Amino acid sequence: MKKILVIHGPNLNLLGLREPAIYGKSTLKQINTELEKIARKRKVGLTIKQSNHEGEIVDLIGKSRNRFAGLLINPAAYTHTSVAIRDAISSCGIVTVEVHLSNIYSREEFRQKSLISPVAKGVVLGFGPKSYSLGLEALIDLI
Ligand code: DQA
Repeated sequence: MKKILVIHGPNLNLLGLREPAIYGKSTLKQINTELEKIARKRKVGLTIKQSNHEGEIVDLIGKSRNRFAGLLINPAAYTHTSVAIRDAISSCGIVTVEVHLSNIYSREEFRQKSLISPVAKGVVLGFGPKSYSLGLEALIDLI
């Protein structure tokens, strides 16, 4: 069975409580339950991690080589700042789909640049929790 690594970046553990007008009312647990449902239906394995630490995310991606066929990632605030996460993805060459709950291009100027998108196969954003489901379905189609 092919395996996919899902990484939720910083502050996404607070979903449901965090700025619901922007990020919605779904909790991370609810999003993960939906992803697991899709994975079962499509017969892929999922490993789901959330981290508030850039280095930990870099380590997770680095260790994914030969273990996972694809990466679904919401890098959250690191989207806009992390050369290290971008380099980790390009170094291990894992097929990556980047997702965001909000449409980062309709928000503050500092959010309107993703350092991750150039090394992702595709990006899904602006659909709330559905960005994750659409991203996972697309990633499964790719691998
Ligand atoms: C986010 C958008 C980022 O700008 C922000 O820092 C997040 C969440 C999103 O899913 O919309 O934490 O990645």
